[in-house]
Amino acid sequence: SKHLLGIKDLTTSDIELIFETADNFKEVINRPIKKVPSLRDITIANVFFENSTRTKLSFELAEKRLSADVVNFSSSNSSVKKGETLLDTVNNILAMKVDMVVLRHSSPGAPHFLARHIKANIINAGDGTHEHPTQALLDTFSIREKLGDVAGKKVAIIGDILHSRVALSNIFALQKLGAEVMVCGPNTLLPKFIGNVGVKVELDVKKALKWCDVANVLRIQMERQQIKYFPSLREYTLYYGINKQLLDALDRPITIMHPGPINRGVELNSDVADSEHSIILNQVENGVAVRMAVLYLLAGIASDN
Ligand code: CP
Repeated sequence: SKHLLGIKDLTTSDIELIFETADNFKEVINRPIKKVPSLRDITIANVFFENSTRTKLSFELAEKRLSADVVNFSSSNSSVKKGETLLDTVNNILAMKVDMVVLRHSSPGAPHFLARHIKANIINAGDGTHEHPTQALLDTFSIREKLGDVAGKKVAIIGDILHSRVALSNIFALQKLGAEVMVCGPNTLLPKFIGNVGVKVELDVKKALKWCDVANVLRIQMERQQIKYFPSLREYTLYYGINKQLLDALDRPITIMHPGPINRGVELNSDVADSEHSIILNQVENGVAVRMAVLYLLAGIASDN
């Protein structure tokens, strides 16, 4: 496909090719001269209908390191505010000779809709509670870097699974790469389908931490909660917050991940987030190389057509 809409559509060998390509780009961006000419004359629009720090800057840097021309669009200060539709917005951007669109949108399926109606390559940078494929790629790439391989590793995804696009994309990526996956959280924050996707489900965070090699801790997404959920933030922290005391009680160290932004003191304490076992900033660093790989490979497919 000339799009990256979700991890669901990728094969294991697609993911391995992305990793091998990202290995090369990681080496490139650690050199004094970080830029390569691979996407010269390609124009990319980063179209964001939701807030972002990491994903937006990471895509922009990845595009610039590949020598693409880049334009950035945020719906909050655009003519979307005057009632312009998603399709009209993107078609107007494409009329300015844009080749690829990186889209973040609050509606699940928005990038899939665009892919059916426009000619440019679409990369999903997060669609509501559905998928966040480049996040899962950088997460699994970071596990591979830290632990040597993803296959056979036990990964617990802990927190607000119900509202998380990171959880679903991670589940797909980890399974395709041969990891064992557990989700852990209060059952009010677990989606109804979770019993049907081949993951272990654990309500007790201590048992989840004891089981896993890697804990990927997710943010409580208050902005997506339509009704007042149990638990409250204070209750969540009491029963599910990850702190040093919980980790010190384990018989071996585990690797700690978080996609960001962190609610410090809610799902994760600073004494864990900033510890030697945290790879949170490695995830962010790897995001640029992984996104370079995705953009480079998609541009290659587009030029073959
Ligand atoms: N991890 C992530 O998607 O962060 P942003 O929302 O800041 O892009």
